[in-house]
Amino acid sequence: MKKTVLAFSRITPEMIERLQQDFEVIVPNPRQGDINAQFNEALPHAHGLIGVGRKLGRAQLDGAGKLEVVSSVSVGYDNYDVDYFNERGIMLTNTPDVLTESTADLAFALLMSSARRVAELDAWTKAGQWKASVGAPLFGCDVHGKTLGIVGLGNIGAAIARRGRLGFNMPIIYSGNSRKTALEQELGAQLRSLDQLLAEADFVCLVVPLSEKTRHLISHRELGLMKSSAILVNISRGPVVDEPALIEALQTQRIRGAGLDVYEREPLAESPLFQLSNAVTLPHIGSATHETREAMANRALDNLRSALLGQRPQDLVNPQVWKG
Ligand code: DGY
Repeated sequence: MKKTVLAFSRITPEMIERLQQDFEVIVPNPRQGDINAQFNEALPHAHGLIGVGRKLGRAQLDGAGKLEVVSSVSVGYDNYDVDYFNERGIMLTNTPDVLTESTADLAFALLMSSARRVAELDAWTKAGQWKASVGAPLFGCDVHGKTLGIVGLGNIGAAIARRGRLGFNMPIIYSGNSRKTALEQELGAQLRSLDQLLAEADFVCLVVPLSEKTRHLISHRELGLMKSSAILVNISRGPVVDEPALIEALQTQRIRGAGLDVYEREPLAESPLFQLSNAVTLPHIGSATHETREAMANRALDNLRSALLGQRPQDLVNPQVWKG
């Protein structure tokens, strides 16, 4: 008998067809009523889940007695209670690598947009405000040659650092748990403590995963260490930054600006950030290109197939549960 897969988001009809070759596939459909109710109804039958954007832990998965694997269409896995997965022997997989370059592109788009006031001046031009040559109050700041501080020099951090170093001649400094000697040689990157990095960088780019250690890594004290001319870019997870503290730093111009793709609560609604011309706010689109989302979905699908067909998945987050 075929195993059952519950595909709850980011999976295209073509991918559903591919899954149907090996599995019974349930896809909650908004036209057939409440999505959450359909999800919960299907859960006890599911051997595998594939999708993204749901918190999954004890409370949600208690009734999922047959569950063997959750294949997340994301690199981040902070939505999942990994300890609980381990306790139950449920495999968790993610989609690293395939989104590295697109996410680094977006970090740079935010950095450039904040520095050169792209979003702000686009809105200004379209509002018919361009009556004469733009003067100093609307000038931005240079990017090339400025110091780029990367907090978390993993794969995505390294891709951002390469753009900065090779494309914009930026000195690279980084902070993190371990020394990256290869990148130090390749890019001349230099290790700093977080406090030193904050004090020295013209652009601070956050690329750390969310964990209890990184929650509110950047709060009042840390923002207070940054140069008043500096720009903060966050493409990691919203809770890495204490958002009210950041809003205050932007309102008082304690720092020059921020480029944000992620927030403490998503979707972002009714935020004081909307009133701030020195904040660029994007709707969590780090990996949102056609090519990358397709590659992520395919990778997630391969992980799910392997897990349910008895092969070790390529991107197993919790290898300790592998029984192969
Ligand atoms: C990820 O893959 O973790 C991105 O944030 C997209 O959800």
